[in-house]
Amino acid sequence: MAQLAYVTTAIVAFFLILLPQSYFSESISSHHPGSYSPTQSDVDLLEFPLNLEYLEAEFFLYGSLGYGLDKVNPGLTQGGPSPIGAKKAHLDHFTRDVITQFAWQEVGHLRAIKSTVKGFPRPLLNLSAESFAEVFDSAFGHPLVPPFDPYANSINYLLASYVIPYVGLTGYVGAAPKLQGPVFKSLVAGLLGVESGQDAVIRALLYERAPEKVQPYGITVAEFTNRISNLRNKLGHGGWKDEGLVVPKYRGAEGKISGNVLAGDEFSLAYGRTPQEILRIIYASGNEHVPGGFYPKGADGHIAKSYLHKA
Ligand SMILES: *[C@@H]1O[C@H](CO)[C@@H](O)[C@H](O)[C@H]1NC(C)=O
Repeated sequence: MAQLAYVTTAIVAFFLILLPQSYFSESISSHHPGSYSPTQSDVDLLEFPLNLEYLEAEFFLYGSLGYGLDKVNPGLTQGGPSPIGAKKAHLDHFTRDVITQFAWQEVGHLRAIKSTVKGFPRPLLNLSAESFAEVFDSAFGHPLVPPFDPYANSINYLLASYVIPYVGLTGYVGAAPKLQGPVFKSLVAGLLGVESGQDAVIRALLYERAPEKVQPYGITVAEFTNRISNLRNKLGHGGWKDEGLVVPKYRGAEGKISGNVLAGDEFSLAYGRTPQEILRIIYASGNEHVPGGFYPKGADGHIAKSYLHKA
């Protein structure tokens, strides 16, 4: 009899002690904040990349489908203004297929971040052909004639895409070691995995065509990527963190090869960038206090705003 009571107590204890724990870990793995309270720093670090995810979502949605978040998921915009100048690109069937997949992946990323932190409305994005043309003109140090049009064809669109997920990727690598909470670490690892996958696909598609001349400029695909990477290194003021598809051998993996389908440091590890470096690049101003480029009114969230207010 005493033994039965002991067993019953043990079973009751089992449910009392273990169930709440498994309930708790379930709530962590499904990205809901639940009972755990994140640090302000974690929240800021996770809200910051929303700026880039909005840009990627809109660029890929418009580029592949001809419309953006206002049509596919207006709630995610939180009432932010519609992007300027984004439009459907002239893409071949294969490229459109890939970009449409990226577009829906970005919608998922926005949902994932916003189910974990409150976030902010979509910032004003300037995705006009002119906005991209300015990036390409600065990359070459002189105006391209005719002005570069990201929406004109598949190769141009891929070159324009080369400009984007890589910056997000370096931001996630930079944020990872600063995060405290397991929910945040796991979310950033998941975002980083897919962003770097997107970058790898874009780079591989461009690498296949590296020696090809982009018309009417007569400049190779490889040269375009080297110029854009150099521009980002220059704007970021953070040293060498960006490299094109063909590099001097000593920059390649183990100093052994000049083909550079993936960017990586001397250990072939992904480069990380701070929010300041990222703002300098996406504002195209080289200055985190001076908005412009794709973000005429600046980026949103605590981190970006703290620099805008000190402008
Ligand atoms: C978008 O960017 C282009 C190129 O910088 C600029 O000419 C245009 O005025 C911008 N549009 C807005 C509304 O900021």
